[in-house]
Amino acid sequence: MNLRKALLIFPFIFLSFVSLADEGMWLPQLLNALNIKDMKKNGCKLTAEQIYSVNKSSLKDAIVQFGGGCTAEIISQQGLILTNHHCGYGAIVYHSTVTKDYLTNGFWAMNKNEEIYTPNLTVTFIKSIEEVTSRVMNNMNANASELQRDSIIKANIKIIEADAIKGTHYGAFVRPFFYGNEYYLFVTETFRDIRMVGAPPASIGKFGGETDNWMWPRHNADFALFRIYAGKDNKPADFSPDNVPYTPKHSLPVSIKGYEKGDFTMVYGFPGRTQEYLTSYAVEMLVNETNPRRVALREKRLAIMEEDMKKSNEVRLMYANAYAGVANYYKKWYGEMQGLKSYNAVEKKREFEKEFLAVANANSAYKGKLDDMFNEFKKIYAEYSTLSKQMDYYSECLMGIDGIRFTMNFINIFNELKKKNAGKDSKFDDLLKTIKKSIPFRNMNKETDIKLCTAMLNEYVKGVEKINRPFYLDSLLSAHNNDGASVAKFLYENSSFIDNTKAKAMLDDFEQNASLYERDPYYKMTAGIVKYYQTAVIPQANYDELHINELQKEYVKAMRDLMKDKKFWPDANSTLRVAYGKVNDYEPRAGVSYKHYTTLDGIMEKEKPGDDEFNVFPKLKELYTKKDYGQYADKDGKLRVAFIASNHTTGGNSGSPVLNAKGELIGTNFDRNWEGTMSDVMYNPNQCRNIVLDVRYTLFIIDKFAGAGYLLKEMNIVSK
Ligand code: ARG
Ligand code: GLU
Repeated sequence: MNLRKALLIFPFIFLSFVSLADEGMWLPQLLNALNIKDMKKNGCKLTAEQIYSVNKSSLKDAIVQFGGGCTAEIISQQGLILTNHHCGYGAIVYHSTVTKDYLTNGFWAMNKNEEIYTPNLTVTFIKSIEEVTSRVMNNMNANASELQRDSIIKANIKIIEADAIKGTHYGAFVRPFFYGNEYYLFVTETFRDIRMVGAPPASIGKFGGETDNWMWPRHNADFALFRIYAGKDNKPADFSPDNVPYTPKHSLPVSIKGYEKGDFTMVYGFPGRTQEYLTSYAVEMLVNETNPRRVALREKRLAIMEEDMKKSNEVRLMYANAYAGVANYYKKWYGEMQGLKSYNAVEKKREFEKEFLAVANANSAYKGKLDDMFNEFKKIYAEYSTLSKQMDYYSECLMGIDGIRFTMNFINIFNELKKKNAGKDSKFDDLLKTIKKSIPFRNMNKETDIKLCTAMLNEYVKGVEKINRPFYLDSLLSAHNNDGASVAKFLYENSSFIDNTKAKAMLDDFEQNASLYERDPYYKMTAGIVKYYQTAVIPQANYDELHINELQKEYVKAMRDLMKDKKFWPDANSTLRVAYGKVNDYEPRAGVSYKHYTTLDGIMEKEKPGDDEFNVFPKLKELYTKKDYGQYADKDGKLRVAFIASNHTTGGNSGSPVLNAKGELIGTNFDRNWEGTMSDVMYNPNQCRNIVLDVRYTLFIIDKFAGAGYLLKEMNIVSK
């Protein structure tokens, strides 16, 4: 059957795909072939070559991956880069001391000499992208098993990567797309002298804290400024006072002309991971098992941490970072699960699969094949469900106990000592030195961890069947009538592995008394857990995942073969992508509608003196009272803070430039709305929005708030 016929008989498939104009994270080198027409129809004024070109300067030359997990953009010819406050957080905290608390008060270099080098921070450009599928499949044996295929592919990739950068200072990596139907080679250039230039106080950059995180309407100036330094030859160099600001091939003009609802927008950055082509079996597992399980476990942990953080300032600081991390994905998974449920995602997938099967079975090349594939999917998820539960109880429950993480630092050292004692090659002496140096480990509060240990072990007993437990942990639980509190008490009273002082003393006579320490109950429990998961669970889970990947590969191939009219985008995999859409509002629930932007007035409305999430910095209040917004105000005289658009984004897009139709910077991406976090699995055009910091608020903070307006002189500001 041809597609037009299929279209008449199975309207659902095509309807559900055609309507999703805003979905997708596209490969920049394929825009010309796939998207540019559609982009132009939606208002884009750029050519595909202005967005991505290998030889000429293009927008891509102003985009970098920042510190591994975020995106940043170049906004001046002197290597000035803009990213999120939460992306620069680590650097800001690193440079902060009690007397120079940049986190609380903000940091502003008033000239280049005041910019601070940040060790270990790098930014990476993409020099070129090239398809290498056939080279990756070189020497593939048709009869190879999945594991054999995997190792042939890995070996080929190594060769391709090495070839690509011979004789250059570049880096290279090859990644699979569409579950390995295609492979692309990325050549990169990484700069390693990055200096901090400016950051607002946390009460401005993180205004609204965890309460507002993943939420719209939003009011924080989530930005920070850095600068790339290079050697005199403009190439990457180790830090040196002699280095100079990097001269980029392209820097983004900054537009303060604003935007209207419906305007074209584009996000250029490094989205981390999406799973848009999962089957109904996978989505069902996610919605009904994985997310609820992880959310419930994190909720318990967060409640315990919060209770103790409220009681003491010391504990609050000790756990602040860990808490923010745990809270971030707790909230994300919750929103994702709710969104998928209310969109009937599983039902939608099932309907699609039914209709897709019918189309496939009407095609001679596919007749009968996909039924087998779906049966296989069904079977594998039934098995994988148990393993994935085991993995969750490992990472979200057992690893939620700081004592276990603490003890894990010691696992290798016993093995190395045994090797040493047997006269074999051993890293013992080095390892001992390293561990000694790394003490103190991240602090934990004993009382808090006893509570966490109690709660998590009780959850473990409830959630994991006896036969799926590591032996020592299970015998410990049995000996204590499966009572988490009793085990926790026992562990904390009888172990040397639970605080820095004891651990330090232990390391001083480690070689003499190792056999004694090896009998420590906390150590035995932790070592047992690690061994059990490493040998009995993780390899099996990996195997299943490989198999699922092979099935997904066939599934996606079939979709692409049978739906020639649809444009497919590959799931995000931390490579450079373009998403495009429009400035747009939304209705989170029936009867409720949200505007597409927020203003400084909203900050004053949210103010709660004494609540550190909603404190308003005095200077900001002063500027608000005077309405001193200068050229940064919108037509109505108000100062806009943030806006939302329908660009399809995910984690890793933080800090990405949000561009207008001409490729000028109008904002910085920093989050998604709660109702829309489902877009990692299914994009709902009515609910999915990315949240953007309005660049006019950024400039206002730099200029009027911080008095660092000199920085604007190096930017190309596009005004009325
Ligand atoms: N939700 C945003 C992102 O996923 C921001 C996270 C940092 N902010 C916070 N309040 N924890 O990463
Ligand atoms: N805050 C996220 C990040 O750090 C972006 C939000 C999202 O997941 O879309 O990348």
